Amino acid sequence: MTQATQTQTTTGLAPTFTHLVSKEGGVKYPLKALHVCEETFSPLEVAYDYDAIRAQVSRATIEAGPNSIWRYKAFLPVNSENPIDVGTGMTPLVKSTRLARRLGLKNLYIKNDAVNMPTLSFKDRVVSVALTRAKELGFTTVSCASTGNLANSTAAIAAHAGLDCCVFIPSDLEAGKVLGTLIYNPTVMAVKGNYDQVNRLCCEVGNTYGWGFVNINLRPYYSEGSKTLGFEVAEQLGWKLPDHVVAPLASGSLYTKIYKGFQEFVKTGLVEDKAVRFSGAQAEGCSPIASAFKEGRDFVTPVKPNTIAKSIAIGNPADGYYALDIARKTNGNIESVTDAEIVEGIKLLAETEGIFTETAGGTTVAVLKKLVEAGKIDPEETTVVYITGNGLKTQEAVQEYIGQPLTIEPKLDSFERALERSRTLDRLDWQQVLV
Ligand SMILES: Cc1ncc(COP(=O)(O)O)c(C=O)c1O
Repeated sequence: MTQATQTQTTTGLAPTFTHLVSKEGGVKYPLKALHVCEETFSPLEVAYDYDAIRAQVSRATIEAGPNSIWRYKAFLPVNSENPIDVGTGMTPLVKSTRLARRLGLKNLYIKNDAVNMPTLSFKDRVVSVALTRAKELGFTTVSCASTGNLANSTAAIAAHAGLDCCVFIPSDLEAGKVLGTLIYNPTVMAVKGNYDQVNRLCCEVGNTYGWGFVNINLRPYYSEGSKTLGFEVAEQLGWKLPDHVVAPLASGSLYTKIYKGFQEFVKTGLVEDKAVRFSGAQAEGCSPIASAFKEGRDFVTPVKPNTIAKSIAIGNPADGYYALDIARKTNGNIESVTDAEIVEGIKLLAETEGIFTETAGGTTVAVLKKLVEAGKIDPEETTVVYITGNGLKTQEAVQEYIGQPLTIEPKLDSFERALERSRTLDRLDWQQVLV
């Protein structure tokens, strides 16, 4: 466990990321483990030399690159010749037929990060980048404040990279999220409190111990990993931007970075410029950004979360202000849905597309449906809905609403009687049947 030091390896190519810069006021900082501007108190972001990127990449070089997020390495803040590559990224972009028909959309695509590697959520993208950078900066212990998926990713990828790992989660997380962290044998601190309290504690720990907190002192690097959700969609659409995206919002980082990813592809000539509408999804039980959007505020008032969508239950979202700005300037919307609608969203996606998502994905599908019903998505628009996590991790959310298998004797007549009964029963009544 050591204090961070700045060490950089080279790849032979000119570095494409040059410094950190404050989002407000443009104050420059060196490429260290820093995340807040001391003058403006605004977040720091990685700045790039886009001429250097343009000189290094083309559609052809990207297509010839690895089948992972690292095909976009020139756009990511790492120097290492061999970044941590656990197969993260290049998840399917599925052209929807049955969900699209159900909703009345003609050009709906599903970006399916429920099957991202290695831990089945988009967080593997941000963690692959953060831990590669953590190693470059000399950290030997990595950490995070997590709503569940981030803890899974940090623990798994730290294990792969041989880094010590200590993660912090709220103590009331779903069993799948806890088990899916413990299996990698990190130190897990289950904090009696909500995510925002976990995050505050982690800021204190981060100031005292020399650890690399992926979403605190390494946040400028970590968050850049989400740009790959934008890059991949553009490439998978045949080097074109969509008309409309719908993505979940917790801290708001993922949403703002998809936007940055699209802009960078335009800036470097990889895609043609086009207006893309950005819509965001929150659970009603934790909807500080959606409330600000609906009330026309440009500031976010923190809330205490109370929803089954625990992975996106952040009451005080760090990037809420920037997410609001993007929704407004792109003519998008930020909507919220109830827990019942979230369960319906999970079931709808599973039954129409064969994709089992977690509560964050249920929220996004339910918001997609709500926006379509309100006439806020044009049926002709090329719309991409981002599914960011896997349903096997949040089984508690749907368990009561999906019925039971029919239990039968290993005999043909028992099967036939059960089949007969199943045709006359609503599936939820099946659990009553023992043939
Ligand atoms: C599955 C899933 N989707 C979406 C999000 C939202 O991420 P962000 O904090 O970048 O808005 C999270 C956050 O933890 C998540 O776990």
